[in-house]
Amino acid sequence: MQEQNFKRYLVTSALPYANGPLHIGHIAGAYLPADIYVRYLRLKKKDVVYVSGSDEHGAAITIQAKKEGVSPQEIVDKYHELNKQCFEQFGISFDIYHRTSSELHHKTSSEYFTALNDKGVFEVKESEQFYDEEAKQFLADRYITGTCPKCSNENAYGDQCENCGSTLSPTELMNPKSTLSGNEPILKKTKLWYLPLNKDEDWLKEWILEGKGQNEKWKKNVVGQCKSWLNEGLLPRAITRDLDWGVPVPVEGADGKVLYVWLDAPIGYISATKQWAIDNNKDWKPYWQDKETKLLHFIGKDNIVFHSIIFPVILKAHGDYILPTNVPANEFMNMEGDKMSTSRRWSVQLDLYLKEFPDKVDELRYVTAKNFPSTSDSEFTWKDYQEKINSELVGTLGNFVNRVLVLTNKYYDGVVPHFDPESFREDDTSIEWHENINEVVTKIANHLELYEFREALNQVMELARMGNKYLAETEPWKLVKEDEEAVKRIMNISIQLIANIAIVAEPYLPNTSKKLLSFLNLPESILDWSNAGRLDLVMTGSKVNKPTLLFAKIEDEMIEAQLAKLNAQKEKLDAQKTKFKPVKPEITFDDFQKMDIRTGIIIEAEKVPKADKLLQFKVDLGFESRTIVSGIAEHFEADNLIGQKVTVLVNLAPRKIRGVESQGMILLAENAEGDLTFVGSNDAGAGEEVN
Ligand code: 2FM
Ligand code: ZN
Repeated sequence: MQEQNFKRYLVTSALPYANGPLHIGHIAGAYLPADIYVRYLRLKKKDVVYVSGSDEHGAAITIQAKKEGVSPQEIVDKYHELNKQCFEQFGISFDIYHRTSSELHHKTSSEYFTALNDKGVFEVKESEQFYDEEAKQFLADRYITGTCPKCSNENAYGDQCENCGSTLSPTELMNPKSTLSGNEPILKKTKLWYLPLNKDEDWLKEWILEGKGQNEKWKKNVVGQCKSWLNEGLLPRAITRDLDWGVPVPVEGADGKVLYVWLDAPIGYISATKQWAIDNNKDWKPYWQDKETKLLHFIGKDNIVFHSIIFPVILKAHGDYILPTNVPANEFMNMEGDKMSTSRRWSVQLDLYLKEFPDKVDELRYVTAKNFPSTSDSEFTWKDYQEKINSELVGTLGNFVNRVLVLTNKYYDGVVPHFDPESFREDDTSIEWHENINEVVTKIANHLELYEFREALNQVMELARMGNKYLAETEPWKLVKEDEEAVKRIMNISIQLIANIAIVAEPYLPNTSKKLLSFLNLPESILDWSNAGRLDLVMTGSKVNKPTLLFAKIEDEMIEAQLAKLNAQKEKLDAQKTKFKPVKPEITFDDFQKMDIRTGIIIEAEKVPKADKLLQFKVDLGFESRTIVSGIAEHFEADNLIGQKVTVLVNLAPRKIRGVESQGMILLAENAEGDLTFVGSNDAGAGEEVN
């Protein structure tokens, strides 16, 4: 057990980019483990603050904005709200979910940069960087692709190769191409600020590899990744970018430059804590600057280097800040045999799941926690989701609770049977129970202290298994006629066991825990870790309620429907793998001439009711306005399309789609990833002929 006496805890979960919806892989990596840990700390009545928020800067945002044809601010506003709501609904209990486009964050990161700059921490160098002459922009990170020098992957990014995991700098790429224009970039001089990581190698090696000054053992996967970085040797890292979206570099003569997103994002943890302190009339400083604080960063494996090496260097360089006690990073969760990906629609997308199954939050929390990729990559499958829920939540936990409450209602009209404390102490079964429960509770705590969340969950379920075994062995339904006292004891102990489960399961299954309390008419104040292990939590003579369903069985139909959706997607993805589809059979010039294609402007756009995929437009074609239905609702927001210039096949025979007559077809281009773009010219007005 590695419990130390920290005075307070600051727990962070990686700030997700506000450029798209979250999926269950994100949750399994950085959010649910942290939430479980934080809920446990709260049950222990520790002083804990849990922060996260949206990462709203960097190329990830500006590229998505371009893709959706809106401003970066619109992108981050949209996804910040969506993700914040999803986290809330999923029970991720942040004390604050902040955002890096806020004024406070700009001020905080700007001041932090200035403090380091004044200390002379940075090296400023003029160097040649890639520049897109057509887009008139320097190209960093995701704005440039090329061939990875390490594994020859042709689609490596300027900052990273997703194939082999190498961290790259743009000039290392072979055959570089701008993602803005597709052109080969030129080299142009610019001034950049560098963080000379090479100067920190010695203390980092002692701290991470030898554990000097660390209070806790770090996970093998984390130390392993750091080791390979440190052994390869650290290089100075550019921490400014020539971009117009981000926190401006607060130095004279640095116009058009912003802080590198990986400098400002982790500082986002600090600004989030500041905002929390303002909102709650607290002091933020001890959480970041007092040695008696335990600082923990929960992240996924792709963020390890930033939290174990780069951010600690930034914290140490300042001088006033503590270093993280631990960085309990998880590996990746895959799904149905493939990598999870939002753009490829191969995931359990959180907003969609919550919309479809709003009452199955604890179920997904449970299955995810059982499959945490704690030591190696793991796998989510719908079949496993069904099996775990049906056999463990329904079959073990739900069944135990239900039996106890049904029997208590049947034998005692719901009144908790009296149980003499004297006989309680002398009674062997009770003593044994007391010891057994306490043993399990201690095991749960020990695992949680070591971030072994799957193991702790197995022990939580062990309590329900013990309960079922107890009922099966003692068979109170048979004893009821022979030994009334014994049955009272069995039922009383079983009821106490449910109260204990409500406490220790709370970090994993917060909604279930609440339901259990309401079954037993217990107040929420009972949720206190120091109560776990007690056999007198539910007063004799108090009443328990008739149970309602704790977990519903997952039927085959639900799983089949989810798998059918994935299979359809798989087919689409496979088709896209052969990126360029074969050319269709030849047609004559006359065939072509038959098509009447004209330009138009969308003047009205709305969703077709009860059709997830359909949008209905009114298109101004110059000579008249037409209603056109198009299956693109999953790609575009109706509101964003007003004023969109489009190209329309106007002599296509009208057809009724979901009751609406569509009078033409809007032309769209689809790339290999399934992304859509409107075909048309920005210079054309409505009603021009295309030929
Ligand atoms: O990888 C990502 O999604 C980043 N947005 C994580 C940032 S974590 C932190 F530093 F804020
Ligand atoms: Zn590579």
